[in-house]
Amino acid sequence: MSEVKPVKWGILACGGIAKAFAKAVNQTECSVLHAVAARDADRAQAFGAEYGATRAYGSYEALLADPEVDAVYIATLHPFHLEWMLHAFQAGKHVLCEKPITMNLREAKRAQSMAKDKRCLLREAFMYRHHPQTQKVADVVKSGVIGRVRMIEANFCYNSGVNPESRLQAKELGGGAILDVGCYSMSFCRLVAGRDQDRLFSEPLELKAVGYLDPQLKTDMWTTAVMRFEGDIVAKATAGLRVNADKVGVVYGDKGRIIVKDPWHCQGEIRVELDGGGEPEVFAADTSRSLFVYEIESFVGEMRGQPIGGSEVAMRYDDTLGNMKALDWWRSEIALSYEADRV
Ligand SMILES: NC(=O)c1ccc[n+]([C@@H]2O[C@H](COP(=O)([O-])OP(=O)(O)OC[C@H]3O[C@@H](n4cnc5c(N)ncnc54)[C@H](OP(=O)(O)O)[C@@H]3O)[C@@H](O)[C@H]2O)c1
Repeated sequence: MSEVKPVKWGILACGGIAKAFAKAVNQTECSVLHAVAARDADRAQAFGAEYGATRAYGSYEALLADPEVDAVYIATLHPFHLEWMLHAFQAGKHVLCEKPITMNLREAKRAQSMAKDKRCLLREAFMYRHHPQTQKVADVVKSGVIGRVRMIEANFCYNSGVNPESRLQAKELGGGAILDVGCYSMSFCRLVAGRDQDRLFSEPLELKAVGYLDPQLKTDMWTTAVMRFEGDIVAKATAGLRVNADKVGVVYGDKGRIIVKDPWHCQGEIRVELDGGGEPEVFAADTSRSLFVYEIESFVGEMRGQPIGGSEVAMRYDDTLGNMKALDWWRSEIALSYEADRV
């Protein structure tokens, strides 16, 4: 029997998240870190040396021209995701692209269309969706133990200070809380609402949002969207870049609730509390493996023709498109409320 060769990865952009990914590639059996690329050759060399890449390139084009690269992980900033996905598909590479996949739904559809034309796999890198903790949340919802879902709350906030030049806050670098972390809280609400309705995910039927736009930067710094989903489920997705709030997901049913202490990095626990009292059921997260390891194994599995990661909750592309549509909606609501405030 012929041995299955590990997938050769190329990492495009050597920033913060690329480090976590490179480390995880080295922890898998199914993948090797073949090449890295940065806009600066010395930085690429240093990054490649640190994580044991076979090759280091001083341009993204050079990495994509390497015939040995099987799959590309795009870790540049979101305004540049589309451009580099299109180049990667042109070169016949499979693509795992960091979240948010693009700046808006229109761009996400364009990426999908070219991936299809070139017969390349395209997935958005929502690593929390590959972790068993997220599957557990979905399973508890579906089991009906907390009854029918009535309300959902999902918060992803942190305080990055006043930092107008950072990628988080500068408009031209894709700044704003919705695109950086709102994509997680939105995806959680859509997943849970879908699970209650026996679907993989669900789309909001109504959405209203308020938030604070930095007056100079014109990017959203903290914001909440409230939504109605099928089944009369009301959900609240919150995102913040200049506020420290609990990172938490809570699902309220008509018989109890599920509290997910660290839904995004999956290092906490899930508590299931029933309205009648009694001891809550607590599921500790499995922290023995990096979230990125699950994500890489899932992607490689799909490249090899297996169903998506063996995990129902992993982010499929129709889920990605639904999420981008909801993020567009959320962002337009904030812009409208901001303008109305100043009439
Ligand atoms: N899944 C997660 O947990 C997670 C966490 C954080 C971020 N992310 C996502 O990953 C992406 C990168 O975020 P990051 O935190 O890694 O950012 P970062 O540390 O600032 O690195 C971003 C990289 O973008 C590249 N880049 C290309 N054009 C640029 C420009 N005009 N200005 C600045 N940088 C430019 C740079 O690549 P060179 O190396 O070529 O210079 C830089 O290394 C974002 O889309 C973000 O949403 C995901």
